[in-house]
Amino acid sequence: MSAKKSESTDVCDSQLDLLARPNDRSRCHMRALAGFVFFILVATGAFCVCVVIYFTGGYREMINRYDPETVSGERSDCLRLASQGYKELCEKCPAPNTSLKGLHMKRQAEPCLPLIDYSASSTPSFNIQQTPTVTPKLTNYRIPTSLYPTHYNIEIQTYIAGDNSANFFFKGHVKIWLRCDEPSDNVTLHLNGLTVDYSSLGFYSKDLDHSSPNYTDWSADKKRNFFILNLDDFTEAGKTYVIEMSYTSPFSKELNGLYLSSYKGKNKIHYQAVTQFQPTDARKTFPCFDEPAIKSTFNVTLVRPSGFTSISNMPLINNSTTLVEEGVTYVKDVYAQTKKMSTYLLAFVVSDFSYIQTTTKDGVLCRAWARQEEVSNTAYALNITTQGLAFFEELFGVSFPLPKLDMIALPDFAAAGMENWGLMTFR
Ligand SMILES: *[C@@H]1O[C@H](CO)[C@@H](O)[C@H](O)[C@H]1NC(C)=O
Ligand SMILES: *[C@@H]1O[C@H](CO)[C@@H](O)[C@H](O)[C@H]1NC(C)=O
Ligand SMILES: *[C@@H]1O[C@H](CO)[C@@H](O)[C@H](O)[C@H]1NC(C)=O
Ligand SMILES: *[C@@H]1O[C@H](CO)[C@@H](O)[C@H](O)[C@H]1NC(C)=O
Ligand SMILES: *[C@@H]1O[C@H](CO)[C@@H](O)[C@H](O)[C@H]1NC(C)=O
Ligand SMILES: *[C@@H]1O[C@H](CO)[C@@H](O)[C@H](O)[C@H]1NC(C)=O
Ligand SMILES: *[C@@H]1O[C@H](CO)[C@@H](O)[C@H](O)[C@H]1NC(C)=O
Repeated sequence: MSAKKSESTDVCDSQLDLLARPNDRSRCHMRALAGFVFFILVATGAFCVCVVIYFTGGYREMINRYDPETVSGERSDCLRLASQGYKELCEKCPAPNTSLKGLHMKRQAEPCLPLIDYSASSTPSFNIQQTPTVTPKLTNYRIPTSLYPTHYNIEIQTYIAGDNSANFFFKGHVKIWLRCDEPSDNVTLHLNGLTVDYSSLGFYSKDLDHSSPNYTDWSADKKRNFFILNLDDFTEAGKTYVIEMSYTSPFSKELNGLYLSSYKGKNKIHYQAVTQFQPTDARKTFPCFDEPAIKSTFNVTLVRPSGFTSISNMPLINNSTTLVEEGVTYVKDVYAQTKKMSTYLLAFVVSDFSYIQTTTKDGVLCRAWARQEEVSNTAYALNITTQGLAFFEELFGVSFPLPKLDMIALPDFAAAGMENWGLMTFR
């Protein structure tokens, strides 16, 4: 495909060159050639237009996947946002390429709104043809905090069993408790590249009060990675609300968010699912309020294939639940609630690594993780860790607040190290 494309560009270039410098030598010959060139140009042009239409105009397929009941609301929101200058919102909607075999997700849709109906007459006040071509510069990227997240329950299932990493992906469910500080008629979250299962969306008050607002529809602000749930009324200051949703995503293609790391073992490739959230990639792994000043507690549950182990910021507290999907046994690793912390310091790793461990004199469990054959080389690091921890506890007069500290050496890691709280990751 790409080879073909570049070939046709080559043809374009050389022929354009010919046309630009007409040759006197044989006019007749040139005319025939020019005609041929013209034909090629037209054909190439048509091909390009088709390609453009193919990639930008997948609207029909996408529209078919949306719930018709919410489409009008979505469209009006989109048009409103677009009229405010976020026009690019509606122009493209790349869907994560997720294998959903055997998942039975009810409906897949992208957190974007490629739904502008150019012929629609339902919005007479706004005509897309007349929008100014200059979009106002977006200066405020801050997330509204009228609803402040106090706690998250996050469950993430990593599909990394087997040898075919092309089929690997992850599935998540997040439930967020929101304290209302100021009335708001929407919930605005960060989200980037996740495919939300809209049938799983829920918004309600913590005490299930019937007078609390319901959500009407959702919209997206791709530029700011906002996912906006619109409510039919204002929330009440002082009350706590809950938002929840399920989603899927391929692993990140970059070394951030939740991505796949790997190394070549003796007879197979070993895969690890690894996180790197600093500065703004927690939103690639779960919908969240992804600003460092916003601090919450987190209950993390990792559902991993039975041949793997998982680690996270806090100690494991339960692993007694198992489930079987497509012949693969998964174990639910439940982690203790974290301290109040920023999203970017959350971390987890699913791997088949091993570890050595020691305990500081204050009872903090320290473990150094590495691939099986390298784990003996981590002894020095572990020794230094306990000494370093004791040194800084004394220097600052503050004892390490977590019951454990894991450190893991990863084959694929962008930075030299990352100070996730309770789970430090290293290259
Ligand atoms: C996207 O998914 C389809 C079906 O699972 C697969 O055939 C195709 O190779 C995938 N494309 C990429 C670029 O991963
Ligand atoms: C959502 O509500 C906040 C106030 O809570 C407001 O600042 C923001 O503009 C609203 N967003 C949209 C898209 O209406
Ligand atoms: C929200 O929906 C519930 C259940 O459908 C209903 O009882 C309640 O009155 C609705 N709330 C508002 C503010 O309309
Ligand atoms: C672990 O989880 C299972 C299933 O949720 C539950 O029945 C069990 O009581 C839990 N065990 C502990 C020690 O919390
Ligand atoms: C479950 O956790 C306990 C300790 O919390 C550990 O000893 C055991 O190996 C774990 N079981 C599995 C299947 O991972
Ligand atoms: C979070 O986990 C703790 C155990 O660490 C548990 O006591 C608490 O009920 C959990 N919170 C929620 C909202 O599930
Ligand atoms: C750690 O290093 C110190 C100083 O080099 C040494 O005395 C001690 O035995 C080491 N401890 C371990 C567990 O390796």
